Amino acid sequence: MQTVVSNGYSVYFDNSFSALSQFVSENRYSKVFFLVDVHTQEKCLPLLTEAVPSLSDYNIIEVDPGEENKNIDYCIGIWRMLLDFGADRNSLLINVGGGVVTDMGGFAASTFKRGIDFVQVPTTLLSQVDASVGGKTGIDMAGVKNIIGTFTQPKAVFICTDFLKTLDERQLVSGFAEVVKHGLIYDSAYFGALKTIAPTTVSPELIHRSVEIKNEVVTSDPFEKGLRKILNFGHTIGHAIESYSLANDKSPLLHGEAIAIGMICETYLSYKHNKLSGAALDEITGYIKSAFPDYRFSNKIYPDLFGYMHNDKKNDQGNIGFSLLSGIGTCTFNHYLDEAQIKECLDFYVDL
Ligand SMILES: NC(=O)c1ccc[n+]([C@@H]2O[C@H](COP(=O)([O-])OP(=O)(O)OC[C@H]3O[C@@H](n4cnc5c(N)ncnc54)[C@H](O)[C@@H]3O)[C@@H](O)[C@H]2O)c1
Ligand SMILES: [Zn+2]
Repeated sequence: MQTVVSNGYSVYFDNSFSALSQFVSENRYSKVFFLVDVHTQEKCLPLLTEAVPSLSDYNIIEVDPGEENKNIDYCIGIWRMLLDFGADRNSLLINVGGGVVTDMGGFAASTFKRGIDFVQVPTTLLSQVDASVGGKTGIDMAGVKNIIGTFTQPKAVFICTDFLKTLDERQLVSGFAEVVKHGLIYDSAYFGALKTIAPTTVSPELIHRSVEIKNEVVTSDPFEKGLRKILNFGHTIGHAIESYSLANDKSPLLHGEAIAIGMICETYLSYKHNKLSGAALDEITGYIKSAFPDYRFSNKIYPDLFGYMHNDKKNDQGNIGFSLLSGIGTCTFNHYLDEAQIKECLDFYVDL
């Protein structure tokens, strides 16, 4: 599959890791570090190191899996290990994992000694189609998602779709939410194609198309001053629900599961406050409801959700910012709404 060229780096689709092999032999790094979590160390790292025998001398930094560990404490642990293993400015960090590892590893690398090189090897559907491309790195703090971070581009991204074979179904469905988002905001024909398949059967070709869409958007606006904001569709409400669930549920929602709920709510806002038709509202909400898990809450949690929304980076002078669909495949940004308007879309979801 064709390599996607981004802001100064390439995204390779490469189940054999020959591009990573070449990258490592062309760049003479003083030391190579792998950042993995417990699962990717077991399920992914052996495949990779076997495929790239020239990578024989490396250190492994392992973190515990899960969003609750994407925080400053784990980040300090990564910096500490880099320091203890003697990393210098000419070292390379290879992040092998889902969005938690690629976000936190990217952040740790972008700040260690004012920045060392890193590459992303995304191993979940979500990280392949979304988190690994675009140069956003970060960690959560005080229950607020991605509140600390940098814009730093990786040196390269290596997508091996074979990794998805060991990913559990719930994670695949969660990642599929971002795939659906790409169709809704950018490509109606793509959305049409997605509707005909099961979320767990997304093909390498569809992953490639999603990366192309994300890449087209982020290369035109690397620092999210304008168009890139459309990628936040579903995320104002979705992040608030995700944060709420992380703080309150025994088995919290996954990122994509929360984004699916956010997309239903924000599709309603698109209907009320942008140009989305009633027919499109029905089509999108009906589809998302059927494809993603249900999550029930009542209006009792609204104050908590508004608390999280007010901390969102997309806000402007106290107003809560949204990217809203103007049709299927088109999205506009900088819509600012007040609590009464937002409450309506939460009620819409609660009553579904
Ligand atoms: N930087 C960005 O632009 C961006 C975009 C979207 C999402 N994100 C971030 O991504 C994160 C979510 O990423 P995620 O959904 O990949 O979650 P994740 O990193 O928590 O991975 C999900 C689970 O799957 C396991 N896993 C990973 N690869 C596996 C494999 N091949 N086989 C078996 N198990 C495997 C992990 O160990 C983990 O338990 C969130 O923190 C979100 O904020 C960032
Ligand atoms: Zn997302």
